[in-house]
Amino acid sequence: MRFSTPSGGFAGGPYQNPHLLPTYAAVCALAIVGKPGEEGGWEQIDRVKLYDFFLSLKQPDGSFVVCQDGEVDMRGCYCLLCVATLLDILTPELVEGLAEYIASCQTYEGGFASACYYLPSGARGRLGEAHGGYTYCALASLFLLRPLVPGVFGLIDLPRLVRWATGMQGLEIEGEGFRGRTNKLVDGCYAWWVGGMEPLLRELVREQQRTGKGEEEWEEWDDAVFNQEGIQHYTLSIAQVAQGGLRDKPGKPPDAYHTACNLAGLATAQHRVVRSGEVRTVMRGKWRVAGNPQLEDREGRREAYLASCEWAEDEGAEVYLGGEENRVNAVHPLYNLTITSVRQMMGHFYGQEPVKSSVGPDE
Ligand code: FPP
Ligand code: ZN
Repeated sequence: MRFSTPSGGFAGGPYQNPHLLPTYAAVCALAIVGKPGEEGGWEQIDRVKLYDFFLSLKQPDGSFVVCQDGEVDMRGCYCLLCVATLLDILTPELVEGLAEYIASCQTYEGGFASACYYLPSGARGRLGEAHGGYTYCALASLFLLRPLVPGVFGLIDLPRLVRWATGMQGLEIEGEGFRGRTNKLVDGCYAWWVGGMEPLLRELVREQQRTGKGEEEWEEWDDAVFNQEGIQHYTLSIAQVAQGGLRDKPGKPPDAYHTACNLAGLATAQHRVVRSGEVRTVMRGKWRVAGNPQLEDREGRREAYLASCEWAEDEGAEVYLGGEENRVNAVHPLYNLTITSVRQMMGHFYGQEPVKSSVGPDE
C-alpha cells in the first residue's frame, strides 16, 4: 500500500508517479497476499479515484497512455482491463473504442504489435513488429472485453493469429522453447507470453468448431495448439538454473521476471484450464444483484464476473513431464494468478459468495 498514490493508482515504488503497469502488479500482489478488513489491503484501494485515474489516461481512439504524458501500448490496455475487472470498475464508458483499437494492432503476420498511431496528416502510421508479449496482452484484453463487446473476436483474424503463435515454438534443436518474434532466439519468458495463450486459443478454436464457422480452416485441428511436453522440457531442463531460479536461456543469469514467466508457462503446459459451462451455471444461479448495495447493477457486470470466474481446471487432463514432483499450481489464463485468488478477490468486490476453488468442470 506504500506504493499507492493520491490518484488511486499505484506507482513502481513509494513517492513515484502512478502508472498502469505497477497498478496491475500491486493489485495482483494484493490478490495473493491481501484480504478484506482494516489492514488487508483490499478495502484500502480507492476504487472511485482509481476509476477517475483510468479515465484520465483514455485517448480519443479508445486506447490508454500508461501514465500521464506516457506512451500507449498493449501492456497498458491489458493491465487496466485486469484491474478494472478484478475490482468491479469496468464500464462501457471506460472501454469505449478499445476493442477496435486493439484489433487494429494485429499485423500481417497474425500477432499483435505494441501500438498503432496516426500521423499528424491523419494517415495511419506503420505498425511495429508482432511480438509475443504484446500479442498475449491483446488476446487476453479481448477476452476481458468480450462481456461488454460480445462480437469482439469477429474483429480479428483468428486463423492468422493461431498460425503465427504456433510458429513461435522452437524446434527440437532449440529445446522447443518459444521465441517472442519471427527469426529471433527462444527465451524462457515466452513460455508464458506465447505458451500462456494456449487455453485462450484453444477455447476460440473450439468455439469456431462448435458453431461450424470457417470449417475448412480447422479440419486438421487435433486439439493441441503447442507441444506442451516440449515447453515443459525447455522450462525444467534448459531455463532452470541448478543454483535456483529460472532464466531466459543458458548463459544468462536467472532473475525474478524470468522465474515468474517460466513457471506460469510451465503451469499452463501441465494443466488444462477451460471455460466451464458447469461452473458458469453454478455461479449464475448464485448471482446476487444486491450483493453490494453501493453498486448499481451496471451493464455487463454479471457477465464480466462470470467470464473471469468460469475458468476452471479440467481435472485428469494434466501432464507432468518428469513426474508429479514437478507439479506447479494451475494459473488463470487471463491474469497469471491462481484460479482461487481470482475467485476470492472478485467474490469480494462483486459482493458475491465466493465459489469454492474445487468447483470444476465435472461438478
Ligand atoms: C523485446 O525485447 C520485448 C519487448 C519490446 C516487450 C515485450 C512485451 C512484454 C514481454 C509484455 C509485458 C506485459 C506486461 C503486462 C508488463 P528483446 O528485443 O530483448 O527480446 P526478443 O528478442 O525476444 O524480442
Ligand atoms: Zn525474456
